[in-house]
Amino acid sequence: VRRELAGGYELDDDRSRIDVDVVHRFLSEESYWARGRPREVVAASIDGSSRVLGLYRAGNQVGFTRACSDGAVFAVLCDVFVLAAHRGKGLGVELVREMVDSGSLSGLGWALDTDDAQGLYEKLGFAELVAPRTAMRRAARRG
Ligand SMILES: CC(C)(COP(=O)(O)OP(=O)(O)OC[C@H]1O[C@@H](n2cnc3c(N)ncnc32)[C@H](O)[C@@H]1OP(=O)(O)O)[C@@H](O)C(=O)NCCC(=O)NCCS
Repeated sequence: VRRELAGGYELDDDRSRIDVDVVHRFLSEESYWARGRPREVVAASIDGSSRVLGLYRAGNQVGFTRACSDGAVFAVLCDVFVLAAHRGKGLGVELVREMVDSGSLSGLGWALDTDDAQGLYEKLGFAELVAPRTAMRRAARRG
């Protein structure tokens, strides 16, 4: 899937087009959730994801997200970013919209974790879990 956006931006879910160096640099150096993630782990996470999306401008990758899913019921949105120079133009919303409302995983139940971008996801139908349910996690033992 390729989709043109205003301003010369383009969304593409071609996994082979992902610039692993750009994704690794952002996640390992700038993200708050994947600091120090090794390049080979980033590459393996891209290979192992159910769907990956790149945001491009003039042939360069400027944004990314990926999803882990059973392809039938449930999906988890991971590693969403737009490079700083390209923020505030609605691109983050379009990136997530393409993942959750189009393509192979549209219509499934979606989960994500965020520290501060709730406003973005609320625009696309995500809502915070409320008690009495409790989200639980087992932290990664590697990577
Ligand atoms: C979060 C991020 C992807 C948003 O990208 P963006 O292209 O600037 O987003 P958009 O222009 O589509 O707008 C996002 C909307 O969500 C809102 N929002 C809420 N929390 C936000 C946050 N922490 N960062 C950016 N936008 C946020 C914005 O106010 C905006 O709404 P508005 O247009 O009504 O003002 C980008 O800021 C980013 O990469 N941040 C660093 C990585 C990160 O935090 N990723 C999310 C991890 S869960």
